[in-house]
Amino acid sequence: MRIEAKDLTFTYSKKSKAISNRALENVSLCIEEGEFFGIIGQTGSGKTTFVQHLNGLIRVQKDSGSLSVGEFDLTAKKCDLKALRSRVGMVFQYPEYQLFAETVKDDVAFGLRNFKKELSLEEEERRVKLAIETVGLNYEEIKDKSPFELSGGQKRRVAIAGVIVTEPEVLVLDEPVAGLDPVGKRDFMKLLHRLHASFVKTIILVTHDMNVVSENCTRCAIFSHGKIHSVGSPKEIFSNYEQLIELGLDIPVTAYLERELKKLGIDVDSDLTESDFADKTAKAIVGGKQ
Ligand SMILES: Nc1ncnc2c1ncn2[C@@H]1O[C@H](COP(=O)(O)OP(=O)(O)OP(=O)(O)O)[C@@H](O)[C@H]1O
Ligand SMILES: [Mg+2]
Repeated sequence: MRIEAKDLTFTYSKKSKAISNRALENVSLCIEEGEFFGIIGQTGSGKTTFVQHLNGLIRVQKDSGSLSVGEFDLTAKKCDLKALRSRVGMVFQYPEYQLFAETVKDDVAFGLRNFKKELSLEEEERRVKLAIETVGLNYEEIKDKSPFELSGGQKRRVAIAGVIVTEPEVLVLDEPVAGLDPVGKRDFMKLLHRLHASFVKTIILVTHDMNVVSENCTRCAIFSHGKIHSVGSPKEIFSNYEQLIELGLDIPVTAYLERELKKLGIDVDSDLTESDFADKTAKAIVGGKQ
């Protein structure tokens, strides 16, 4: 499903001039099916407000631009939000806080029951098992446990299982690696790539972690004060170091090292992923010595 926003504008508390707050202003952005798309920007720049439009959690306001997700026109009053939400999964920050059922299996099944009431119990169990196994947990070991007995990392996986159980085509994650240790973060990103290689066609990731963007995203957009500042590949976005600093953003370690090496006369033109950076740096250094 292709996502296309045109001049999308959104104002919180629009009716009261005294407290109204324009969070998005003329945001135009296309995300193609198949992308692993990053959304970055300073705190308060409108990232969450934008992504919450994508499954209709925040409705497009009157005369405030347009938004379509595949065949769903979110500008239309009659948009079938239930059908949309089964195809666009949304994972919020600290999703583990949203677990509520008595057992893991009931928690994961909840999303499925909400969207696909007609499933037999056997089919429901098959899908819940698949979702739990997809997030790397052992179904038999965990299915009857209370979600509250699990570790933080396990809880987060159960929460993700509850979103992917409907096999959404688009998965939107708002700061999914916040609070994870380095190993947890790496494992989590591996899980996202596994999902991207199976039924999830498009991943949209909001993050403050620039290394996650350079390592994983096909393209990314910078939000600034509710507007799109720029869109491009991580290479294009992170090559403008000064501009990012001005925007209050960091750059990935690889971009920083490339810049420092350039000052020493070593030109490493990598795509900013760690593996390509290491490969090209080694070649540049060895080549320089020959
Ligand atoms: N429920 C709300 N009511 C009123 N204003 C809000 C609400 N949620 C967000 N805002 C305001 O809208 C603007 C954009 O907020 P948003 O949460 O989209 O930013 P963000 O880029 O996701 O920030 P962060 O990186 O901190 O998560 C901010 O000025 C914020 O204060
Ligand atoms: Mg946010």
